[in-house]
Amino acid sequence: MTTTPIRVAVTGAAGQIGYALLPRIAAGGMFGPDQPVILHMIEIPAEKPMEALRGVAMELEDCAFPLLQDMVCTSDLDEGFADVDWALLVGAKPRGPGMERNDLIKENGPIFTGQGKAIAKNAKGSCRTVVVGNPCNTNALIAAANAEGMPNTQFTAMTRLDENRAKAQLAAKAGVHHTQVTNMTIWGNHSATQYPDFENAKIGGKRATDVVTDRGWLEGEFIKTVQQRGAAIIKARGLSSALSAANGLVDHVHDLVTPTPPGDWRSVALCSDGSYGVPEGLISSFPVSVDAKGECKIVTGISLTDFGQEKIAASVAELEHERSVIADLLG
Ligand code: NAD
Ligand code: LMR
Repeated sequence: MTTTPIRVAVTGAAGQIGYALLPRIAAGGMFGPDQPVILHMIEIPAEKPMEALRGVAMELEDCAFPLLQDMVCTSDLDEGFADVDWALLVGAKPRGPGMERNDLIKENGPIFTGQGKAIAKNAKGSCRTVVVGNPCNTNALIAAANAEGMPNTQFTAMTRLDENRAKAQLAAKAGVHHTQVTNMTIWGNHSATQYPDFENAKIGGKRATDVVTDRGWLEGEFIKTVQQRGAAIIKARGLSSALSAANGLVDHVHDLVTPTPPGDWRSVALCSDGSYGVPEGLISSFPVSVDAKGECKIVTGISLTDFGQEKIAASVAELEHERSVIADLLG
């Protein structure tokens, strides 16, 4: 194999999401069937997680994935992020029943100061960082702020899982396959205030609101189901989503390295440039498209009703509040 391998760091590699994610990356799900990868698997420096990580590495070895060229297992951030092309920051505490994701902010936020610094110091200058550990938007803000010298455009947080959830709910209501649902934006925060924008979504190329005409369901149950899906999974499983989260992350990165189908877009939480009235610098979810050169841009010109604008404003207010809570971590 002559193609240069892509080095991918995954923190929390011995956790639930890590277990579902690593084989997908090693099997080519993220970067394609011809692209070799080297996995940098990072865990906390304690005996139990490092022992579990060794077990995961043994299993990956036993899969004999043709694309997996090498593995690094470490708790040392300098080693873990050395020369990586992608840093996938999954490692963080998940919430339990009855908690909101931003209840984790004080405990998880500090993780991302050291990781942001270590990425800036050790990773390739072009390294792209994706934050999954919750609350992921604000943790991405912390990582970006601490990665001195690295453009904040290289930091994103994952709302692709929410997009997939919203597509599945709309498709089920319309009685079509979920691939028929396009142009689905998640606006704002990966939290219970996120706004899955049914007004601009399409089903089979038609406006979703012309296909699903039950406005009460769209404004009520649909939005609530998407906003509360993470909590519903925690209630049912006793653990937070893992296989769908890993799948969302595979989709998120794949979307960022693949041109977006013409006319469609994806949901990505990225650093606001002030578009749609979202204050500059907040990591908020937007409709995004990637061109043939790999350039990622917020899709402009989407019209928002008063209903949509109010929903987005509520989520953005929450992001501003989260930012004020962790202001001391922003370097
Ligand atoms: P988990 O508890 O199963 O695994 C987390 C792993 O991270 C553990 O192995 C732990 O040792 C490790 N870890 C903790 N701190 C670390 C650090 N500083 N460096 C490296 N590793 C560290 O949790 P999980 O189910 O895999 O979830 C991980 C995070 O992802 C949680 O915060 C969860 O809320 C979040 N999550 C986000 C989304 C999303 O859509 N953005 C979806 C699902 C879960
Ligand atoms: C999810 O959306 O499933 C994750 O963010 C986990 C959670 O806490 O809900």
